[in-house]
Amino acid sequence: MIRKTGCATAQILALLCTSRMGLFETCQIPQANYLGAFADGCTPVTAEPAATSTTAVWQPTAGSSWQIVLEYPLNSTSYDAPVYDIDMFDNPISTIEELHNLGRKVICYFSAGSYEDWRPDAKNFTKSDYGDALDGWPGEYWVNTKSENVRNIMTARLQLAKSKGCDGVDPDNVDAYNNKNGLGLTKADAVDYVTFLANGATALGMSVGLKNAGEIINNVLPLMQWSVNEQCEQYDECDTFQPFIENGKPVFHIEYPDSAPNVTPAQKATYCDDKTVAGFSTILKDMDLSDWIDAC
Ligand SMILES: *[C@@H]1O[C@H](CO)[C@@H](O)[C@H](O)[C@H]1NC(C)=O
Ligand SMILES: *[C@@H]1O[C@H](CO)[C@@H](O)[C@H](O)[C@H]1NC(C)=O
Repeated sequence: MIRKTGCATAQILALLCTSRMGLFETCQIPQANYLGAFADGCTPVTAEPAATSTTAVWQPTAGSSWQIVLEYPLNSTSYDAPVYDIDMFDNPISTIEELHNLGRKVICYFSAGSYEDWRPDAKNFTKSDYGDALDGWPGEYWVNTKSENVRNIMTARLQLAKSKGCDGVDPDNVDAYNNKNGLGLTKADAVDYVTFLANGATALGMSVGLKNAGEIINNVLPLMQWSVNEQCEQYDECDTFQPFIENGKPVFHIEYPDSAPNVTPAQKATYCDDKTVAGFSTILKDMDLSDWIDAC
């Protein structure tokens, strides 16, 4: 139901685009060239091969293994995975260089959709930029993603990621529409904001992924190099993220077993053998995202 809405939006864009440009090859709206966007109940409007607007950036392969540590600055690079997702602010350039020297790629995490009162650039937000508190995350508030000031701050964050040598970015909290955000933010606002972030990252030669936000996949998939998903098995919605796999893009998928870091082989098997996560890069972590990891 939700996905049909995304599909309809993509189709309207495609139609506008074709009628304006005449030729698909010259169309600048990325969704218009994207066949996958019309799957799941819609009729494809073109038989042209899917094009992406992101030829210059790193594209990890679907199924890549990975590690994510956000609780503290990374203090061990020994876990054998080609992709690490770490906090952009908390980690020094030397850590990113060390990972690169080991042949690993680095995704830098930051929150794009929330104000966090402890970040070094927190004072750049004005009071009118933020709305309701995030449930369960002290000191964190949803931000108005339409604010020019907020967008300037995010552009500066992307530039910081670039200057630190990050291969890609993991902008979190882009699904305000699923939460009581106090700012009236909608799904359409999320599509617009994610597009803004993707264009900003791509312009700097960095990849970008979609964090959760399954409802807008059809609108932004061509702009994304991967999905970072939390708890799709717990919420029984992993099939929503399969379009990434169908397009050769990883779903970096985390489940948080209550008993972590104690997970029995039987428990692990229930996560890893589930058919709905076929092709995903599934890992088990604790909620704080320490360096403990158990991968499927
Ligand atoms: C990394 O630092 C954390 C927090 O200080 C600590 O709990 C953890 O044991 C450390 N890990 C390694 C491998 O040193
Ligand atoms: C915000 O704050 C930081 C740290 O004080 C500063 O370096 C940066 O240039 C500022 N501007 C934006 C747009 O974030």
